[in-house]
Amino acid sequence: MRGMEQNLRTPGPTPIPDAVRDAQAQQMIDHRGTEFAELLRETSAGLAELIGTQHEVMLLTGSGTGALEAAVVNTLSPGDRVLVVTIGSFGDRFAQIATAFGASVERFEVEWGQAADPAALREHLASTEPYGAVLVTHNETSTGVANPLRELAEVVRAAPGDPLLIVDGISGLGAMPFEMDAWGVDLVVSASQKAWMASPGIAIAAIGERARAAGETARMPRYYWDFAEARSWAGKGQTPWTPAIAVLYGLRVGVGRLREEGRERTWARHAAIASAVVAGIEALSLRPVAPPAHRSGTVTAAWLPDGFEWGAFNARMRERGLVIAGGQGKWSGKILRFGHMGDVGIDEMSDAVRLMGESLAEFGMPADGSSAADAVRRAFESTAASVR
Ligand SMILES: Cc1ncc(COP(=O)(O)O)c(C=O)c1O
Repeated sequence: MRGMEQNLRTPGPTPIPDAVRDAQAQQMIDHRGTEFAELLRETSAGLAELIGTQHEVMLLTGSGTGALEAAVVNTLSPGDRVLVVTIGSFGDRFAQIATAFGASVERFEVEWGQAADPAALREHLASTEPYGAVLVTHNETSTGVANPLRELAEVVRAAPGDPLLIVDGISGLGAMPFEMDAWGVDLVVSASQKAWMASPGIAIAAIGERARAAGETARMPRYYWDFAEARSWAGKGQTPWTPAIAVLYGLRVGVGRLREEGRERTWARHAAIASAVVAGIEALSLRPVAPPAHRSGTVTAAWLPDGFEWGAFNARMRERGLVIAGGQGKWSGKILRFGHMGDVGIDEMSDAVRLMGESLAEFGMPADGSSAADAVRRAFESTAASVR
């Protein structure tokens, strides 16, 4: 990749392919013209295919959090009973947004580092008054844990009161198996800087029929994020407000590349890389946070050794050109997080693990960067057959 000054392994933004960078550097166009209409149409249609939906996909200018807010305010009314399934800091954020707009929020809280258990959720839903909506994070970026979304969706679909299922798919969509229509997801959001391989700036919302219908009676206040307004302009191939045109240029290329690769192959590539990263982390004598059955395909979190000084370690890795993320909220200083989504291959990952190992060794840890990098490659090779 051109101009890779650093190995950027945060869980978003992610390094973007040269073709995306070139696309994003193009001259501006009129966002009320035919060229833009085609850009919007092609990108939304490609995303719909990748997300597994026949329904509308809206492209809104903003970050993922904006899309979470849009999902809430376009489907709910103040006072609505809402259940937020939270397994980490992004689930907590979803709850905070719904609370800020006046929903009556209950939390189905799961210990950080674990996934939500479908049977426990079923039991909870059967034991209380019906909810208007259930909000779930697909891939909890703060802990590196993937929820069993297909099973959770099945439980929500069968719940009393037929609540809407609204999903934060921000850091999993595109990279991990996801079938919006087949699983019965009513609304899912994502953002351009994740597996889609573009810069930050475009929020993605796929809106099913039931979510769209809920919008007709939803009374939460909204203006910038009003889906009905966006829908009325989308019909003309436009957005209501001036869009992040450059990011859309990039997103079109990122989406095109994923379509060319094919969903199953993209998912298999991410799964193979994720297990290779876990092998590398374990070879460095670090312990992954997520239980094996619920490991994320896009971000791996590992415990820092007891008493280890994250700040100094992180600074040393950055001097070596490796940029990873630390823990969030109550896990700040306790874990490290390693992103592997989008334009990611095994070379960058084994290199990153080597650099991490060399830095760990400098801090007196029993880690050998080179042999851990070999472990990454070996683990990848053993699963790569399914990727080719
Ligand atoms: C699962 C999840 N939800 C929400 C967000 C927030 O997205 P943004 O930072 O684009 O607002 C992120 C970003 O990392 C995320 O991973």
